[in-house]
Amino acid sequence: MKKKTETKNKKLWGGRFAGASSDITERMSASIQYDARLYRQDIRGSIAHARMLKKTGILTAAELEAIEKGLRAIEKEIEEGRFEFSASLEDIHMNIEAALTERIGDAGRKLHTARSRNDQIALDLRLYLLDEAEDIDRLIVSLVSVLTTLAETNIDVVMPGYTHLQVAQPVRFAQHMLAHAWALLRDRERLRRAERASSLSPLGAGAMAGVNYPTDRAYTAGELGLAGITANSMDSVSDRDFALDFVYFAAMLGLHLSRFCEELVLWSSAEFGFIRLSDEVTTGSSIMPQKRNPDLAELVRGKTGRLYGNLVSLLTMLKGLPLTYNRDLQEDKERVFDSVDTVKLSLEGMIAMLSGIRINTEAMKAALYRNFSTATDLADYLARKGVPFRQAHEIVGGLVRHCEESGADFFALPLETLRGFSEHFGEDIREILNPESSPERKLSAGSTARGEIEKQIAAVKKILEGDADD
Ligand code: ARG
Repeated sequence: MKKKTETKNKKLWGGRFAGASSDITERMSASIQYDARLYRQDIRGSIAHARMLKKTGILTAAELEAIEKGLRAIEKEIEEGRFEFSASLEDIHMNIEAALTERIGDAGRKLHTARSRNDQIALDLRLYLLDEAEDIDRLIVSLVSVLTTLAETNIDVVMPGYTHLQVAQPVRFAQHMLAHAWALLRDRERLRRAERASSLSPLGAGAMAGVNYPTDRAYTAGELGLAGITANSMDSVSDRDFALDFVYFAAMLGLHLSRFCEELVLWSSAEFGFIRLSDEVTTGSSIMPQKRNPDLAELVRGKTGRLYGNLVSLLTMLKGLPLTYNRDLQEDKERVFDSVDTVKLSLEGMIAMLSGIRINTEAMKAALYRNFSTATDLADYLARKGVPFRQAHEIVGGLVRHCEESGADFFALPLETLRGFSEHFGEDIREILNPESSPERKLSAGSTARGEIEKQIAAVKKILEGDADD
């Protein structure tokens, strides 16, 4: 064992090392178990780097060719599961470089010219986030489309809107779905900000001071399709803001999905009965035969905890680090990977749940009539007839109390009873009491009235279509 690590130390870090590193050092420093996931980005980065080295005369055309061919072959081996990763080679960079050198000899040994693992890992993580962001964006768009379709096809469904989880006013179900759609569109903006932050190449910073070669950093960035290069070599290798932007986006998305899931859990309960989740996304109980549990919604809600955890982990890991690279930075990977996986899984779960949702319009209607959902409309009615709003509010409050005490039906109060409370009540009050027509009385922009919802649907679609073009 000792012998092995001794040679390994020498093999990895060269002449500086005579003694062996211990087993615990290897176990603590190896990251290959998780950073193997960066192999595509690592290879793409190396090819771009090698092309730049050739362009600037540091590598010959033959060397570049050997490197590109070798790296492609290694990529294929990894893809097909034939590549043997070694923990003693620590990370993805060393595993790939060692395999390359084994294949092509000296040209492989030249690849690391004008580069350090410090700028290499910063690049890999940026490329990885850019790749994943594309998939995640697509999932958000799908989810927003599902919500928009639900809004469109159920535009006439009226349900209670809540404040304090108490029935407040009637709203269209569409308005509720669109409220979540807008939150998701803001999440997309946050994802875009993370993408913009990631789209700068740190390569060429070397270990941290820059490199002793006339490299062309912009060329490498261009090869990689990135927007530009980072400005300062020290900042380049220590900055993880782009990763933080991403895990923050993920935490916010989790927050939004979790709130939505809380509603799905409530609405699918017997007490609300507003929706039915399909068999595909519900589970039974091993003891209670009647159960249909909304597990997916609960899991998306629960997973939000890990997304917050990843954000706090990363913030905390970074806060005490002096410039520039410190090995602590290696701890960023698993947090970022977990946020990527969790967000993708949660979005897929949401799409599955909402695509198969069944809406129980009768239960929604019953809830509107069980409560005094049009009390505000009544107060506004009086206000329109000249009663000061505060006084109108007082009068309707008295009416509600009367109904509660006498058991009278608020929605079917005879005109004489109403007149006993205010002489301003007239025949037209029937329509005002009707919760199903209440949304149409909302006149303000962005309200739950049909016309305003149609405008929102068009606006959301335009945003989604606009993106399809670019
Ligand atoms: N595996 C390392 C990481 O994830 C790569 C950079 C290592 N650099 C170093 N100087 N030890 O951060």
